[in-house]
Amino acid sequence: MAKPISLEKILFSQGFGTRRYCSDLVYADLVKVNGVLAEDSDEKIATDNLVLNVEGQDWEYHEKAYLAFNKPPHYECSHKTTHHSSVYSLLPSLFIERGVQCVGRLDYDTTGLLLISDDGQFIHKMTTPKKNIGKVYEITTPEPMTQKQIECLLNGVVLEDDPKPCYATACLQLSEHVLAMTIVEGRCHKVKRMMAAVGNHVAGLHRTEIGAYRMPADLAEGEWRWLYPDELKQLSQSVVS
Ligand code: URA
Repeated sequence: MAKPISLEKILFSQGFGTRRYCSDLVYADLVKVNGVLAEDSDEKIATDNLVLNVEGQDWEYHEKAYLAFNKPPHYECSHKTTHHSSVYSLLPSLFIERGVQCVGRLDYDTTGLLLISDDGQFIHKMTTPKKNIGKVYEITTPEPMTQKQIECLLNGVVLEDDPKPCYATACLQLSEHVLAMTIVEGRCHKVKRMMAAVGNHVAGLHRTEIGAYRMPADLAEGEWRWLYPDELKQLSQSVVS
């Protein structure tokens, strides 16, 4: 059982505002703790299975934020965007207060599974190339994928900025124009560049899996959901050191 923490600290940790503002929320009768109106912002509260209600909105307490997000097209994975809106604009502002970051980025036109967290160690563990976490991308191509192109991807292609070949660790042809390809690193438009190197192109790119975690079928585009301990365990088991 986690150590009880003062209500003011709990509200602050969840991104509800400054400590002073969080305390004021309590004294303005705007906070309920597990359905009961809170009276004292210094009261120590057990955080296990805690549900807050702030200004009429329920909020599950999570010490750290681990989210799965279904990225729509035409959003940038950056807090300071250049040409498009930010994926962070699609999340509750509490998460921005908490300093969440994308766990690896997707291009503005790529869709699909994005993990988002405020746990720096987790982000590092999941993004360091040494950890060999497979990511599955569904690639739609304008030209039919040939067997030869798939073999080249599996045997490794050399991209101009790196003498080491880049490999697909698995390729599954889903239809003439759709390939599910697994790669362990996806920085700097890797999939698009690998496809260009084998003489095809990417008309649509959608990430479906990171390690053992698959995008939930019921997570609609632009929506997010919490990741729970069993899913985080699945993800950390995907890390090959
Ligand atoms: N590779 C790409 O080319 N783009 C992405 O968004 C991710 C991987």
